Amino acid sequence: MKGVVLAGGLGTRMYPLTKVTNKHLLPIYNMPMIYYPIQTLVNAGIDEILIVTGGNSAGDFLRLLGNGKEFGLRHINYTYQEGEGGIAAALSLAEYFSDNDKLVVILGDNVIERNICSAVESFRAQKDGARILLKEVPDPQRFGVPVFADEKIVRIDEKPSAPASNYAVIGIYMYDHRVFDFIKTLKPSERGELEITDVNNFYIREGKIAWDILEGWWTDAGTFDSLQYASNMVAKTGANKL
Ligand code: G1P
Repeated sequence: MKGVVLAGGLGTRMYPLTKVTNKHLLPIYNMPMIYYPIQTLVNAGIDEILIVTGGNSAGDFLRLLGNGKEFGLRHINYTYQEGEGGIAAALSLAEYFSDNDKLVVILGDNVIERNICSAVESFRAQKDGARILLKEVPDPQRFGVPVFADEKIVRIDEKPSAPASNYAVIGIYMYDHRVFDFIKTLKPSERGELEITDVNNFYIREGKIAWDILEGWWTDAGTFDSLQYASNMVAKTGANKL
């Protein structure tokens, strides 16, 4: 199983913090943001990792991370996303790297208190399909939100104004190699992006999605408020605990 960290985009929601650097290089408490998702993958036993960068400071990722020695890695792979096309567009750049293997994909601004070891173990044992992680949140309208019927997920709504549940689909996704075929059929959403939620809905329609509830806190760090919240939580409890 291989890992992909998505750290492209232009971070326009966080201007002017992102005027001269990439969002994923901003600090969360005592470390650059991208350290957290890389550590999440490493803690789950994933040591073949691709970083999808973008924007004007892509070279800084290489200077910061090198070959991943700080994480106990011997090598890190990099690729470059031109412009902004959404999460699924960024993920499509991982097709060559994946080489038909299963993937764990993590958004470069997602931080968790604990780990994803048991979900990754379950996905290793899962024959095919996808696996997502859910977390109960006070503001589901900011996220992808699962719609349940008879304890099954029947659909995910992206940023619904009237959320059907109090859960967010967090930015950690596990896919088999068919994900790239699905992405090729996507059309841009109203915000002009290829949505990861549309990818997940493909798997749901095929009855091929499994899910777990994440333990411990989770946050993204893609807005001023969530960036501050992430820093406070890391300072208080630490992150990526095994
Ligand atoms: C993205 C996804 C959303 C998901 C969230 C997790 O939102 O579109 O479904 O819940 O990441 O961080 P975005 O960061 O693009 O607003």
